[in-house]
Amino acid sequence: MKYNSQMVAKPYFIFALVLLAGEILFGLILGLQYINGDFLFPLIPFNVARMVHINLLIVLILFAFMGAAYYLVPEESERELWSPKLAIITFWVFAAAGVATILGYLLVPYATLAEITYNNLLPTMGREFLEQPTITKIGIVIVVLSFILNIAMTVLKGRRTVITVVLLTGLVGMAFFFLFAFYLPENLAVDKFFWWFVIHLWVEGVWELIMGAILSFVLIKVTGVDREHIDKWLYLIIAMTLVSGILGTGHHFFFIGTPDYWLWIGSIASSVEPLPFFLMILYAFSMEKKRRIDHENKIALTWAKGTAVIAFLGAGVWGFIHTLAPVNYYTHGTQLTAAHGHLAFFGAYIMIMFTIISYAMPIIRGRLKGNSQKSQNIERIGFWLMVIGMLGVTLALTVAGTWQIILQRWPDSGEALSFMATQAEIIPVYVFRLGFGLITFAGLVTYLYSFFVKQPVLSK
Ligand code: HEM
Ligand code: HEM
Ligand SMILES: [Fe+2]
Repeated sequence: MKYNSQMVAKPYFIFALVLLAGEILFGLILGLQYINGDFLFPLIPFNVARMVHINLLIVLILFAFMGAAYYLVPEESERELWSPKLAIITFWVFAAAGVATILGYLLVPYATLAEITYNNLLPTMGREFLEQPTITKIGIVIVVLSFILNIAMTVLKGRRTVITVVLLTGLVGMAFFFLFAFYLPENLAVDKFFWWFVIHLWVEGVWELIMGAILSFVLIKVTGVDREHIDKWLYLIIAMTLVSGILGTGHHFFFIGTPDYWLWIGSIASSVEPLPFFLMILYAFSMEKKRRIDHENKIALTWAKGTAVIAFLGAGVWGFIHTLAPVNYYTHGTQLTAAHGHLAFFGAYIMIMFTIISYAMPIIRGRLKGNSQKSQNIERIGFWLMVIGMLGVTLALTVAGTWQIILQRWPDSGEALSFMATQAEIIPVYVFRLGFGLITFAGLVTYLYSFFVKQPVLSK
């Protein structure tokens, strides 16, 4: 490690991994409830488990982004972090608020939670991904602002690189779009319109900048390729992202009561969105080819390439499948959406977390050349189990979604099955989903185990 303050990334990384274990466990609970609707009822109803599953997902990604930024910004800026103390304080504040919120979901009925957190004073609750009590949302804003202050001061006072500027732009964008979470119009169509300003502009806009910056940092470190090459690619990817992603928001405005022109704008702009994801594949693989060093930490490069490939499949391919308005007319809100949501979130934002952790964590633990070969081999098994598991979950959901469309959406209204009758028909496919979910969890356990493999003492 070049700068001591990079150490503050450690608790962020560890906590993100703990939350990931919780997230996947709740995924498994949901998967079981799809097969047996009474599983864990009334202890953990489906809606509560779902809320915990996706809120853990968002919070763990935030922790991972913060850890990544605290690790890479000092090194890029060639100076210590502006305030390591602030970074540690915000870690504990955010962790405590996160745990309290999840416990709130699990222990108190949601309506009561809304009441005791004074949601009526500034109503923001009740929307997917944004279920947090208003007070938690305010907490998130404070934590994120203090984090951005810390990062910005470090960037501005140090050496400025394309990576840190792109990263900072992404982080500021993330904070900015989150502000729409505080706007809750009564009209459902208007509400959905602005809800996507948070969700879509995060995952298909500013978070892609953050992802591109983290990917570039790891690629520089493990391939030794010149910065100029990296910078050119990063510029290109970021430009394509913003050009397609901003207007691409229109692919959520097809049938929600918005004007017709969105059918065209959304379809055309979002068709371009897979391109930056495809460029990331070319980027990662061509950097490997041009590499000037053979870094001992091979598994970090595997994660980097894997991130690019699975993100392209999940976001690019599975996103494109349903992004044209005439197709979306039939697929909207089916299991096909869930298939895409799973592989895109996993490939882009879970795997980029593994990429930076895989590179940085050994160094934080004093293993400058990466973990031992044995440990890397075990991590590689974890990599494949998780990738195969999530591909399997996605394929199962794709079959489920197609079947659902055939039974529920395609026939004329007289002959179409109801939503619940359709889901009952598809249960055999959900058994496969659960099986692949278990493989994913086994992969995570294997991955975590690789941390505890003893490092042989290196000869001098
Ligand atoms: C890191 C891995 C995972 C990620 C990133 C992830 C992500 C997500 C996302 C984004 C949603 C919301 C989907 C939407 O609204 O369309 C969701 C819901 C869900 N997830 Fe996961 N998930 C993961 C693992 C799992 C696993 C292993 C299972 C089960 C085997 C699972 C089962 C479910 C279920 C049943 C839902 C609710 C779907 C519904 O509302 O009908 N997830 N997950
Ligand atoms: C890493 C990037 C991405 C992530 C994490 C992601 C995640 C998601 C999630 C979770 C949903 C479901 C939201 C909900 O209604 O609950 C969704 C919906 C959607 N996504 Fe993505 N997405 C990504 C990129 C893309 C791309 C590049 C495209 C198009 C090429 C795309 C097309 C769509 C469409 C059309 C929907 C709406 C589905 C419907 O109508 O039900 N996504 N995305
Ligand atoms: Fe979108």
